[in-house]
Amino acid sequence: MNSIQYRPEIHFTARKGWINDPNGLVYYKGRYHLFSQHYPDDTHWGPMHWLHAVSDDLLHWEELGIALAPDDLGFIFSGSAVVDTDNTSGFGTEDNPPLVAIFTHHWNEPGNPANCHEQQSIAWSTDGVTFHKYEGNPVIPSDMADFRDPKVFKNPKGGWGMVLAAGDRVMFYASQNLKEWEKTGEFGPEGNYSGGVWECPDLFPLTVNGEEKWVLLVSMGPFEANHGARTQYFIGSFDGSKFTADGSFSQPEFIDMGYDNYAAVTYFNTENRVLMGWGDNVVYADKTPTAEEGFRCVLTMPRELSLVKTELGGVRLAQKPVEGDVFTEQPAESCTAIPSQLCKIRIRGDGAAIIALKNAAGEQYRFGVNDQNELFSDRTGAGLKDFADNYASEWFGKSVAPRFYEGEWEMTLYIDHMNTELFADGGSRVFSQLVFPTLPYDTISVAGNATVEVYPARS
Ligand code: FRU
Repeated sequence: MNSIQYRPEIHFTARKGWINDPNGLVYYKGRYHLFSQHYPDDTHWGPMHWLHAVSDDLLHWEELGIALAPDDLGFIFSGSAVVDTDNTSGFGTEDNPPLVAIFTHHWNEPGNPANCHEQQSIAWSTDGVTFHKYEGNPVIPSDMADFRDPKVFKNPKGGWGMVLAAGDRVMFYASQNLKEWEKTGEFGPEGNYSGGVWECPDLFPLTVNGEEKWVLLVSMGPFEANHGARTQYFIGSFDGSKFTADGSFSQPEFIDMGYDNYAAVTYFNTENRVLMGWGDNVVYADKTPTAEEGFRCVLTMPRELSLVKTELGGVRLAQKPVEGDVFTEQPAESCTAIPSQLCKIRIRGDGAAIIALKNAAGEQYRFGVNDQNELFSDRTGAGLKDFADNYASEWFGKSVAPRFYEGEWEMTLYIDHMNTELFADGGSRVFSQLVFPTLPYDTISVAGNATVEVYPARS
């Protein structure tokens, strides 16, 4: 029996049951909304629903219950949500613009999951709480098995744009009213460097050195060479119809070098571009030891995205966690004690260093910089690990990635019970790794030239 709680404090989990991908991330009527893939009746994946929660700060969530449940067209798979400010859909009024959710209906023959198809459907709400499925669903009919996860955004040419995953590529659609959609282009499989089925795409502009570039995210389904499942990104341009990669990458580039950030997508209708992902890895997610606390799986911390020109890696995606006012402004007096299971730890250093979070059971989570100027995260000795072969093996437990800078470095680690999220070199490298220590980590040790500051959660 563990004397530790794995349920985090500033990460979204379902009160009860299973979750996977974040869906329908949207700011509407003064509150952040999130939905997630959800199976309420067990701590395993099952017939998918959308679970709904709201927040004022993206960190503390109030669960509102199920927004969308399976029906005759199938399970409710992943998708997005937009605020239809001009009431182009006619579901609300210009004075009371509707929230419109766009999602995949996944149908399979009962008892025969192989006989399946996926189509796109919509639902709307004018109070941000109760959702009505459109009677004209599906809005994009299909008989394809892998055709899912529509992400809708404002098309730079006017009207609405959509990117969705279709097997080994993404497809782009356009619409004026969210109900009638026309295909405008594709990206992939050429230009792709990773294996796995394409899932949960997103497409959005960011500016670097005054120049607008478009970022395409694509989550790559289970694929051993990717250490399970990861979110790949491409940088390029979007002409309103199709995306063209600028060719600056020659290998798969992932938004997170840890193994617990999948299906990551961004918010609609926020000033900054904010990303959240499923903070688990599909290859072991349904075996993690949280079921006795009544829940399984977690979403990542929200992260503001930017593009940065790095010293060694060209233009890269950078992530800055949204941390609200959770942590103390001043560091604690001790730089070796971890006072609470929710904590922020800042480390600055030069050259190789190993930082370890330790507990009285002899378990430790280690991270740092090696003598090749690479960052690493290693959970192979971090705690419970026998629940799945592919959780803390060498391949799934250790991650190493070259820095995009030379010389001095800084990194910030957020630990929230089972979640560790490490942001290094201005967030140009991120490692999100779940850990399951059997006692809380209470001590930090450092080998190398580095200084540590500990910022506990405010009580
Ligand atoms: C990604 C995914 C999506 C799909 C959903 C089903 O984790 O496979 O492609 O819509 O999960 O729960």
